[in-house]
Amino acid sequence: MQTRATKMTVPEIQRLKAVGQKITALTAYDYPFARILDDCGIDLLLVGDSVGMVVQGMETTLPVTMQEMIYHLKLVSRAKPRALVVGDMPFLSYQAGLCEAIANAGRLIKEGGAEAVKLEGGVNIARVIRAIVNVDIPVMAHIGLTPQSVHRMGGFKVQGKKSGRQPGARERLIEDAQAVTDAGAFAVVLEGVPMDLAHEITERIPIPTIGIGAGPYCDGQILVIHDILGLTERLTPKFVKRYADVRGVVAQAVSTYINEVRSGAFPLDEHSFH
Ligand code: KIV
Repeated sequence: MQTRATKMTVPEIQRLKAVGQKITALTAYDYPFARILDDCGIDLLLVGDSVGMVVQGMETTLPVTMQEMIYHLKLVSRAKPRALVVGDMPFLSYQAGLCEAIANAGRLIKEGGAEAVKLEGGVNIARVIRAIVNVDIPVMAHIGLTPQSVHRMGGFKVQGKKSGRQPGARERLIEDAQAVTDAGAFAVVLEGVPMDLAHEITERIPIPTIGIGAGPYCDGQILVIHDILGLTERLTPKFVKRYADVRGVVAQAVSTYINEVRSGAFPLDEHSFH
């Protein structure tokens, strides 16, 4: 456990790139996890729309709603973390028009307690980023493998590979990174991107790159908390490192409880009132 005096803010996250200190980020969806991750000294907590897959058991992030994002943001921001709290904008909350995008970004701040928002897309979504930034809501961009584009990509596939089927994909990713930077994003998530390309983007743009499946040269790293703790049954992607087997620990504890209730070993006198 670590204690950090400085509240992580958007300028503080940007300063870490300037001084060459890696940015640490994880997803969180509720109060207890927000407290634990924050006590460990994490820099940024993302209330991601991955909640749809790892908490709600859905196959994609597409059905997640604004109401659900606000609910989970409230649980996380109630922990008053030192970490910067970023709220993900769910599918179709920002694509249909600038006014709607601003209003929905504002709801994540006003109702959910987010300190910044994240949205997916590059050149195609730069106008939206600019509009939200213009009302003083900080935006973290997300390019490369963007899970909300799962149907266009034909699955959750690495983007911008040299040997890939789409010619010019690498150049387009560099354009995306430049476009979100020019639009005013304060940082950008690079997901499912070859490490040499992520390295090149990280050197080219002034804002921090936060990698997930993008190799070691990004300015920071983010992973889904359920994946690193081994909480899910789902197949985890190659880029995930499992740091614990929490599913195994929970299963062991629950099996022991069931056995003890059945055998009468629990509760004992010490767990009972006289
Ligand atoms: O929704 C999410 O959790 C994300 C991260 C994995 C970057 O977008």
